[in-house]
Amino acid sequence: MTLYGVGLGPGDADLVTVRGREVLERADVVYSPGRLSRSVATEYVPESRVGDLDFPMTRDEDELRRAWKDAASEVAPRAREGTAAFVTLGDPNVYSTFGHLRRTLSTFHPDVAVELVPGVSAVTAFTTALGVEVSAGSSLALREAPRGTAPTGPDRMVLFKVTDAPATHERLVDAGYDVVYGRRLYMDQGETVVTDDPDDLAERDYYTLAYAERGDTGEPPATAAFDATGPHDGVSTDGGLTGPARTELAEGEACGDEVSHR
Ligand SMILES: C[S@@+](CC[C@H](N)C(=O)[O-])C[C@H]1O[C@@H](n2cnc3c(N)ncnc32)[C@H](O)[C@@H]1O
Repeated sequence: MTLYGVGLGPGDADLVTVRGREVLERADVVYSPGRLSRSVATEYVPESRVGDLDFPMTRDEDELRRAWKDAASEVAPRAREGTAAFVTLGDPNVYSTFGHLRRTLSTFHPDVAVELVPGVSAVTAFTTALGVEVSAGSSLALREAPRGTAPTGPDRMVLFKVTDAPATHERLVDAGYDVVYGRRLYMDQGETVVTDDPDDLAERDYYTLAYAERGDTGEPPATAAFDATGPHDGVSTDGGLTGPARTELAEGEACGDEVSHR
């Protein structure tokens, strides 16, 4: 039948999607790569249906390949005879262990059907948790900053794997960035921290990300001209717009989700 790669979201059980929950509830077996994803999955699946896979904590590529080959050999027959699921935190296609399993299956067990259920990724959840608006027309790069490193270049970056926040911070500030951090955002397990002070995060925690921004981040959106203190036709009186802000757009050109422009 099918192996489902199910994204669980950032860690709060109620941020699992309805579709993800349905798949977990009907799966014959649910595999998880770690303790956190297991604790989210078991909100919807009894322990008796959770399967065990062994993943070594190593960067040795031969050892990793052996582990994924073994994992695929365990999962493949269960997915052929019924419904199996493999859960990951966030989205299964964003910096995720699920990619290893999918590649290994397609090489050694190509007959196994694989389907994905997207999850709420930290790439998008951070915006709400940190109060960042990524407005239409701006760009955002996703990078990693492990062990005190600090990639630079793009004007807006979300950085995963910030394991040494003080060292990463120093480098980013030297390069002209303002930085905000989020740890264990929307996560039932452990303490959630949102801060711009890297010393609050001196203790290492893998579930830490940073948002870094510098310079001119693009054109202000049309609604930035609204002035809350101004008259109630809602638009700034100091040279801003004086009537409804209306730009003629070709169909589909506006990037407002599900807003139709007539
Ligand atoms: C291997 S990536 C997994 C990303 C995941 N697949 C997703 O879509 O969110 C792990 C990194 O994502 C970030 N991350 C994931 N979940 C997070 C959360 N709830 N709070 C803060 N950072 C998180 C951290 O930077 C962590 O080091």
